[in-house]
Amino acid sequence: MKEDKDSRWFELERVPKDYIFSKEYRPQNVDSPACNSIPVIDLAITTKPVNIGHSQPAVEEIFKASQDFGFFQVINHGIPEKKVTDAMDVLKEFFDMQSKETATGGIPRKRGYIYTSSTDFMKDGVYLWRENIKHPCHPLEECVHLWPDQPTRYQEVIAAYLVEIQKLSSRILDMICEGLGLKQGYFKDTSEVQLLSSNFYPPCPDPTLTLGILPHYDPSLITLLYQGGSTGLQVMKDGQWVNVGAIPNAFVVNIGNQLEIISNRKLKSVKHRVVTSANETRRSIATFVNPSPDCIIEPAKILVNELEPSVYTASQYKDYVQRNKAFGDYTTAIQSALQSES
Ligand code: OGA
Ligand code: NI
Repeated sequence: MKEDKDSRWFELERVPKDYIFSKEYRPQNVDSPACNSIPVIDLAITTKPVNIGHSQPAVEEIFKASQDFGFFQVINHGIPEKKVTDAMDVLKEFFDMQSKETATGGIPRKRGYIYTSSTDFMKDGVYLWRENIKHPCHPLEECVHLWPDQPTRYQEVIAAYLVEIQKLSSRILDMICEGLGLKQGYFKDTSEVQLLSSNFYPPCPDPTLTLGILPHYDPSLITLLYQGGSTGLQVMKDGQWVNVGAIPNAFVVNIGNQLEIISNRKLKSVKHRVVTSANETRRSIATFVNPSPDCIIEPAKILVNELEPSVYTASQYKDYVQRNKAFGDYTTAIQSALQSES
C-alpha cells in the first residue's frame, strides 16, 4: 500500500487476501484474444419504420443473435457520441472522488450509492474487483434529485444520456417484438422501469485470482451496456467463456430473464461475467430495462400452443425479484420461474 493520503484500495502490488476467489470461481483463460463471434448489428440499415409487413435484415439479425447468443452489439445506433463520452467522463470523475474518499487501509468502507447491496461487492466474504453505483431512473424527473450531486454535472449529463438510452431500448424492443411476431407496442407497458448501474474496474495485479462481476444472469427484459471499447466482458457459449469484442462506440445488448420468459424461451438469457485486466481500466454503464413491479410476466399467449407449451409460470415481477433475492443479486437464476415438474 502506498503511503500518500490519496492512495486507493486497488493501488496495491499484490491482491489482498479478501479479494482472492476460491478456485471454483477464478477465471482461467483471461488472456485469450477477444473473440468476435458475438454478432455486431448495424442499425443504420434500418431506415424504414418497423412493422411494414416484412422483416428487415437488422430485425432478423437481432432475433438470431438473441436466440443463439443472448447477446449482440449494435453500431450506428443513433446516440450522439458526445452524450456518451460526457456520461463516461462524469462517471470517471465520480469514481475518482469516491475511491479517494474511501481509501484507508485497503478496503473501502463505502463503495456505491443508493440501491447497492453487499452482494454487489462481495460473495462469501470475498470482494469483487470493482466499484459500482446504482440508481433508479424512472420516471426521470422524479429520480434525478436522488442521484449524486457531485460532480455538479452528474445529474444533467446522466439524465441526457438516459433519454437517449430510453429511445434506443424501445427501438430495440420494437424490433424484438417484430422478430417474435408480437404486436407492436407489446412491451410499452412493461419496459418502462430503468435502473442504471455503472462500474469501474481498476487494473488488477493478478487477474487470475479476481473477478469484476461473478457469473450471473440479468433479471431485466433487456440490458444495454456501454463499455467504452474496453475488454473484460465474457459470455457463456456452448460451455466456454467467450470474450465480447471491444468495439468503440458500440452498445452491447443482452436478453434478460424476463424476456426469456415472455418469449417462452425462444430468446436466451445468457450467463456472463467480467474478468479483470493487469493494465487496462474498464468502465461500463449498464442500463437495465425492467418491467414495472406490478406487471405480470408470463409467456406471450401467441407463443404458446400444443407443440410449444408454456415453460414458465406467470409471476408478478416484484414477486420474481423477491424470490430471487435468495440467489443473491448477481446469480439471479431463472430456474425459479420454470414450471414445476410436479
Ligand atoms: C451487469 C453486468 C457488465 C459490465 O451489471 O449486470 O453484466 O461490464 N455488467 O459492467
Ligand atoms: Ni449483467
